[in-house]
Amino acid sequence: MKPIITSFGSLVLVVAIASAFELNKFEKLDAAKKSADKRIVIKNLVVPAGKMLDLTNLQQGTVIEFEGRLTFGYQEWDGTMIRIKGKNIRVVGKPGNLLDGEGHRWWDKRGTNGGKKKPRFIEVNLEDSLVTGLNIKNPPRHCFVANNCKNVRIEFVNIDIKDGDTKGGHNTDGFGVGGSQNVTVANCKVHNQDDCFANGSGRDIVFENNVCTGGHGISIGSMGSGQKVERVRVRNCQVIRNTNGIRIKSRKGETGLVRDVTFENIELKDITQYGIVIQANYLNGGPKGDPTPFPMENIVIKNVRGTVSSKGTNTLVWVAPGSAKNWQWNSSITGGQREVACKGVPQGLKFPCGKK
Ligand SMILES: *[C@@H]1O[C@H](CO)[C@@H](O)[C@H](O)[C@H]1NC(C)=O
Ligand SMILES: *[C@@H]1O[C@H](CO)[C@@H](O)[C@H](O)[C@H]1NC(C)=O
Ligand SMILES: *[C@@H]1O[C@H](CO)[C@@H](O)[C@H](O)[C@H]1NC(C)=O
Repeated sequence: MKPIITSFGSLVLVVAIASAFELNKFEKLDAAKKSADKRIVIKNLVVPAGKMLDLTNLQQGTVIEFEGRLTFGYQEWDGTMIRIKGKNIRVVGKPGNLLDGEGHRWWDKRGTNGGKKKPRFIEVNLEDSLVTGLNIKNPPRHCFVANNCKNVRIEFVNIDIKDGDTKGGHNTDGFGVGGSQNVTVANCKVHNQDDCFANGSGRDIVFENNVCTGGHGISIGSMGSGQKVERVRVRNCQVIRNTNGIRIKSRKGETGLVRDVTFENIELKDITQYGIVIQANYLNGGPKGDPTPFPMENIVIKNVRGTVSSKGTNTLVWVAPGSAKNWQWNSSITGGQREVACKGVPQGLKFPCGKK
């Protein structure tokens, strides 16, 4: 804090103004992190090609503000463009901020399946922290990953990858949460070409009041490698023109656990493949064959409603008999004309699985 002293005649005002380190040149990054201000204003910064904006080793209590437009040089690489790590950190997007990946320079419709090597956009590893108000545009591939986080709220983040619809964006996942505990993603928007929200490996994950457009839906998974997901709540979301509305997927031949997952008050609109899909035979490249036993317990589908386009299927469950325990289901999804077989639906659960 720098005191600013102003005097009006005999009246003396002492106003404390929080001073900040303005990071507008990449070379000043180390100095910014060490600054006693603990407030870094990232203003119209240009990050050189192939370099990470490395906001790790932050002092506890640091505030990071994004102002103006953040841009990056172009290089093929498979690193991470921005990484933020620390405890008691606030990451704040100021009005008009834009984190612009200019992903079209990498896009070739192949995402992470080949073609140009593409960096992912942001990874955060935070504890007791808040991320708010970021406007993100056109990451080359995966946009926002929260790994090994604890007690973190991510809110009012707008992920706009609409351009990817026509310019070859692929694997542009919106939010991914892995290995985390008590993470909330709220009041966000995602327009992309892959999962709106993926994974949720960890526990006490909330995804609420979000709008997903254009992508592959809200997913738990794909699960496997012995990973567990426990206590996930997805509520009050809209999913518009995605391939799937909501889904739980575990990979064929792999182990793990999904327990206590609730999808509540979800509105689907013009979903192209599956309104709701729970499947245990997932493979990158498409689900295949018989489901693998994979415990999915205490799953609640409550007031999930809306429309699937005529070539799609309203609901599909494809899990090994005995895997599903204690499910509750109340959905109302219409429009899908494609009928498919279901497997493993717990006895006594009444909904038109796989039917029109
Ligand atoms: C969960 O994280 C939020 C911050 O997002 C915090 O306010 C809350 O106290 C945490 N809950 C628990 C049980 O630690
Ligand atoms: C999914 O979870 C795994 C295991 O925690 C993690 O390594 C991976 O990065 C996560 N994926 C996403 C997209 O978050
Ligand atoms: C299912 O949800 C609808 C809409 O929220 C509600 O009107 C209905 O009572 C619910 N049915 C059951 C069996 O819970």
